Amino acid sequence: MQIPCTDIELALLKKIALAAKELNVPCYAIGGFVRDKLIGRATKDVDIVCVGDGIVLAEKVAGMFFPKPEVHFFKNFGTAQIKTAQMEIEFVGARKESYDFSSRKPAVENGSIEDDQNRRDFTINALAISLNEQDYGQLIDPFNGILDLQNKIIKTPLEPGITFSDDPLRMMRAIRFSAQLQFTIEANTLEAIAQYAERIKIVSSERIADELNKILLTAKPSIGFDLLFKTGLLDIIFPAFAQLSGAEYIDGHGHKDNFYHTLQVVDNICKNTDDLWLRWAAVLHDIAKPATKKFEEGHGWTFHGHEVIGGRMVPKIFTKLRLPQNEKMRFVRKMVELHLRPISLTKENITDSAIRRLLFDAGDDFEALMTLCEADITSKNKQKVKRYLENFEMVRARCAEVEEKDHLRNWQPPITGEMIMETFGLPPSKEVGLIKDAIRNAILDGDIENNLAAATQLMLDKATEMGLKTRP
Ligand code: CTP
Repeated sequence: MQIPCTDIELALLKKIALAAKELNVPCYAIGGFVRDKLIGRATKDVDIVCVGDGIVLAEKVAGMFFPKPEVHFFKNFGTAQIKTAQMEIEFVGARKESYDFSSRKPAVENGSIEDDQNRRDFTINALAISLNEQDYGQLIDPFNGILDLQNKIIKTPLEPGITFSDDPLRMMRAIRFSAQLQFTIEANTLEAIAQYAERIKIVSSERIADELNKILLTAKPSIGFDLLFKTGLLDIIFPAFAQLSGAEYIDGHGHKDNFYHTLQVVDNICKNTDDLWLRWAAVLHDIAKPATKKFEEGHGWTFHGHEVIGGRMVPKIFTKLRLPQNEKMRFVRKMVELHLRPISLTKENITDSAIRRLLFDAGDDFEALMTLCEADITSKNKQKVKRYLENFEMVRARCAEVEEKDHLRNWQPPITGEMIMETFGLPPSKEVGLIKDAIRNAILDGDIENNLAAATQLMLDKATEMGLKTRP
């Protein structure tokens, strides 16, 4: 079997083969490297399994490089890693594993290559290539993984209940691979995911978030999220997302299914951005619709304030999913909070003031916000889509015009809180905020000019009105 490796990879595999021969341990390339090579996907690391001590083999291989790379090893797991300039190589001894029911920690015993292949997650991930002299390059494929690769099927090598009970993270991996590779999960395997969904609870939030991010970084994340939903996993790992599903009817008035609308928005945005956090904003933009839903006589269904409530939900969701609590989270929150603003600017007679406020509030994230708004158009009516897109083009043009005139995107009002405190001898207080807001609003509304003199005058007027005196 020929696998299409680069010259560098071939040289590397030869080196490993030589080291294994000298140690007299059978060894194989296995897992994702073999799978990805066979389907022409980029690879950055290679897993090597040997029937012997993986750490000893890693040391031997490292010694064949000049300068010798460091060997990072984990004695408890019997694994070792070396990083060469071109590739990361992971070494492990072949294992036979059985798992403890309440954790993902396997009880490890040394085993044969067959044992090792048996304990892997999917037939397409259990493919191995011999690096041994007698059959170098031979594909070892006990579960017909090559056929599953050709037929684009994800299937467990053993009875799926065993594979998933052993390590429930594999249920998410199945769905993630299905989304990444656009493969179908074999019926039996899919059924087992639904059956064992509850077992995902023993998996750490970090690992779950990692898989969610990988799904979200695919070209069409709806494939993965829909599978998570249909198998019941989403309800357990991210209930607020699953709760978007369904449409309620009263007096014949329904609303759209916000789960499938969101999936469409996510797929739309993925055509225009690779930014994980903007993609998260698409996932979360309508997250508060269930919490704000009302049926109003004469109006139908409303979701008033869902952008504000949704914004407030973002930090909680990020905490629960162990996503970062930093500027990425604040960016997502801001996108959720602002996602209706550009739509409100597509009406007639929009004032410069409204445009200025959007530029000020969105700042550097203006383009990202417009990308989200454009993705939010999910009508099936082509005429409508065209009209909405044209409306957004108008908003962009108006914003460009006002920005050119007023430079508000990264603008800070000319008078700061410190300057106000200094002038009136005030501690940080409500009064300081009131004066600051008055100045900012007056400039954004065009009531005073955007300069220090005009802002100072307004500060003094406002302070007099509030009964404050300047510091002697
Ligand atoms: N594996 C497994 N069960 C897991 C994780 C990994 O059986 N829960 C096995 C699979 O054989 C997999 C290999 O370990 O191919 C390497 O794992 P990993 O590097 O996580 O996955 P890859 O398949 O290489 O793919 P990716 O890097 O995209 O995660």
